[in-house]
Amino acid sequence: MASLEVDISKLSMGECITVKWRGKPVFIRSRTEDEIAEAADVNLAELRDPENDLDRVQKPETLVVLGVCTHLGCVPINKAGDYNGWFCPCHGSHYDTSGRIRKGPAPLNMEVPPYSFIEEEKLLIG
Ligand code: FES
Repeated sequence: MASLEVDISKLSMGECITVKWRGKPVFIRSRTEDEIAEAADVNLAELRDPENDLDRVQKPETLVVLGVCTHLGCVPINKAGDYNGWFCPCHGSHYDTSGRIRKGPAPLNMEVPPYSFIEEEKLLIG
């Protein structure tokens, strides 16, 4: 199965890029201190799909998720919605800065694909 190397050295703070891996979009977001704090400051009992933010990242400043809404598979819009994460315009799902579902019809958080840091600023997805 194909893996994808991604150089994230040019990703500036707060920026999100989309790369394609196995035909699917993958969002790589360089999170700000505020976005990391927002993701951490959540009562897990309130989440539909409870996952700790720290279990979804390898480094808090870099979030990597499949850019596929878990409702019916549309591509959510970055930095949109009520939780400053993503908004899916198809039927109105709101995701937070950890890519977790917070409001709307999607049942699950956006999926974290397998990846690793092969260098300080280089990812291997897959
Ligand atoms: Fe995203 Fe329906 S596909 S809300």
